[in-house]
Amino acid sequence: MPHRSQELARIEAATDAAIRLAADHIRRGDLVAFPTETVYGLGADATRGEAVAAIYEAKGRPSFNPLIAHVAGVDMAATLVDFDPLSRHLAETFWPGPLTLVLPARPDCPVSSLATAGLDTLAVRMPAHRVALDLIVAAGVPIVAPSANVSGHVSPTSAAHVYGDLSRRIPLILDGGRTEVGLESTILQVQGGIPYLLRPGGLAREEIEAAAGLTVVRSEGDPSAAPVAPGMLASHYAPRARVRLDVHRVEPGEALLAFGGAPVRGVGEAARVLNLSPSGNLREAAANLFDMLRRVDGDDISGIAVAPIPANGLGEAIRDRLTRAAAPRDRNGFGS
Ligand code: TXA
Ligand code: MG
Repeated sequence: MPHRSQELARIEAATDAAIRLAADHIRRGDLVAFPTETVYGLGADATRGEAVAAIYEAKGRPSFNPLIAHVAGVDMAATLVDFDPLSRHLAETFWPGPLTLVLPARPDCPVSSLATAGLDTLAVRMPAHRVALDLIVAAGVPIVAPSANVSGHVSPTSAAHVYGDLSRRIPLILDGGRTEVGLESTILQVQGGIPYLLRPGGLAREEIEAAAGLTVVRSEGDPSAAPVAPGMLASHYAPRARVRLDVHRVEPGEALLAFGGAPVRGVGEAARVLNLSPSGNLREAAANLFDMLRRVDGDDISGIAVAPIPANGLGEAIRDRLTRAAAPRDRNGFGS
């Protein structure tokens, strides 16, 4: 549901009634800003692609970074991702708290592919804040939430900061006072038993090392040696097939990603056709983007042709992602 920009966001003290109201918004597909112990998050139902698209729209993000799914406990996280023993130990040690773990998404993970930016992994964390946890439980779904600021601004540590950035873009801000940590969560990914630090944050590396009994490897420098947080370096899902943008005519053997109702010539000879949004709705197109990229991709096609997509609003991020998918690859098969 697009929020009407004439209406200003309501700031509600985070009472039980306000949290129930916020949970209703989340379940309806609306956005709600809420406090965590690190910074305020801009939350949406992780399982609803169009709600996730609305996050990028509200933040004015020019690209799709994968988001963190906030959960109410290890058990809830285990419905979304597969834990290795070390990651489970770290979750049990530091949750609730400012530690985000990047883990393989389960095959039946209900989180929207837009929230993971098409990756096979999902970042999960259990925040140490009563309001955040009550909200997740009341909504009954994992809540994806980037920091609740406009793209390019610093992360908000009070409801007033959120209001300053997003008052015309979201219906509700839950006010839980100043956040305690004031710094985003530490992001960690265990691979082959080695803990890699993807983003330093509110949980100190030394604490993780003490609990793990292992050295935490900083994943900077050589990106081929270690995983990286896509927000810091691009490593999103990229299709194998070559991608052509702003196509008015499909070549035989190409797959077509259509948009809206505008006619594209040669459709009859396309190997496959999927429409990102038959009605030409950018939010729907964003929600479908990564899933449809995977579905049209394959060894049997000569390339992926993409119909013209407008560059305004969410179209900018959609085009950014497709442009990177079209760019030359490095040896890992990812756009750089
Ligand atoms: O403290 C926090 O983490 C706050 C509060 C609201 O929880 N959230 C936050 O979200 O800082 P955001 O979207 O501003 O930063 C999320 C970071 C990005 O750098 C993103 O690239 C990385 O997490 N990330 C998310 N999913 C990932 C994945 N599957 N693999 C690697 N990095 C991932
Ligand atoms: Mg942020």
